[in-house]
Amino acid sequence: PNGLRRHLAIIAQTGAGKSYLAGKFFESLLQQGATILVFDPNSDYVQLRKQTGQEERPYHSAERTPFADDILIYRIPGIQGRRFPDTLIGDVRSFTVRFAELNHDEIADLAGISERASNQRRAIESACEQLQKAGADYRPDELISALKDIASGSKEEVTSDQETAQEAVLGSEERRAARKAAQYIENLRRFPIWDYHDVNMQELLQPQQLTVLDLAGADKLVAAYAAERILREVWKRAVTGQLHHPIFIVLEESHNLIPANSQTRASRIINTVAAEGRKFRVFLTLITQRPSKISPDALSQCGSQIIMQLTNPDDQRAVQKASEAISADLLNDLPGLNKGEAIVLGQLTRIPVMVRIAGRVSAEGGSDVDIVDELRRARQDVKAARMTAKFRTQAAGPRQQEEW
Ligand SMILES: Nc1ncnc2c1ncn2[C@@H]1O[C@H](COP(=O)(O)OP(=O)(O)OP(=O)(O)O)[C@@H](O)[C@H]1O
Ligand SMILES: [Mg+2]
Repeated sequence: PNGLRRHLAIIAQTGAGKSYLAGKFFESLLQQGATILVFDPNSDYVQLRKQTGQEERPYHSAERTPFADDILIYRIPGIQGRRFPDTLIGDVRSFTVRFAELNHDEIADLAGISERASNQRRAIESACEQLQKAGADYRPDELISALKDIASGSKEEVTSDQETAQEAVLGSEERRAARKAAQYIENLRRFPIWDYHDVNMQELLQPQQLTVLDLAGADKLVAAYAAERILREVWKRAVTGQLHHPIFIVLEESHNLIPANSQTRASRIINTVAAEGRKFRVFLTLITQRPSKISPDALSQCGSQIIMQLTNPDDQRAVQKASEAISADLLNDLPGLNKGEAIVLGQLTRIPVMVRIAGRVSAEGGSDVDIVDELRRARQDVKAARMTAKFRTQAAGPRQQEEW
């Protein structure tokens, strides 16, 4: 495990077995006592408490992994149409973010308000100020009400006779901006993540505990904001000596959080942790299927790499740039790897080795669909629907005559 004193990158094209490997890796790390935080945008890790093969079983009747009690699952509340309903997963906690902690520009960004819409941004600023002055804790709902108050002019100062025509125009523009801003804030109500309180960080940081933050259903901006917020909290504790155990932070689809050619809200803090984390015993695992799309700086901070099948030449080049240890020979091997085969490089191993990954104990979230089986079910559905339609027309025959 001392090979883990560096950040780790797990790189492979889609379907090659990254999540399978990561699941196996973290189940063993957990049993060694690690604190692990997984940012999971696709619900790939929500089934870890069940044994493999139990994917379809409700949690209460499924066979569990020996470390099931050491795993916490957080989900954004109120998201409809999940891939894995709570009944399959067992006890879940609410992942929420305290809305009142966002400043007005962050709110405007998240709501999708353009940077140039300065009137709308100002409207949000004054609505937030009003709420704060009133000592109110607030969520998007309350902010919308405050904006609507501004829009209807109810909170406006009494206008005097001297009010010039220009000031009147300004006032009406402000009201219009507030109305528009309120419409944008409606976007935020779609994500029940915004609440009066944050997740309890202390709960996330227990030793020998794996916490899955299931961000499925949140859009990329929201996911990046949530990641930033949690990472900052962890980092604040790390640099002030409040972290008593090493912590492993896993970023799935990390190219979305820390892309190569642009910045997300989370880019900065991830770069900081990538550059300085190991001094404070905060270790990153960056998982990506597009190494050419992730920030090369962050990638090259990963002292260990596990690379699986990779055929895209851009992605191969990115891997080559990020890792000194990879030879031209190894690079040529990458397209030919089978599912579950991996090349391990860097601090994890004395010399580069090829390994076959097998024997995972826990159930997977994102396992491949059996397409033949799915299509058979589709055909059955069509057949059933056609039969029903046929019966219905036959049955409707005489009744239609009656009505006639
Ligand atoms: N070592 C392995 N042994 C057996 N099956 C495996 C192995 N690795 C992966 N698989 C199977 O291959 C499929 C894809 O694996 P996985 O979900 O881990 O891929 P991935 O690289 O994470 O893909 P994506 O980028 O789409 O998330 C799954 O159905 C999984 O069960
Ligand atoms: Mg995956």
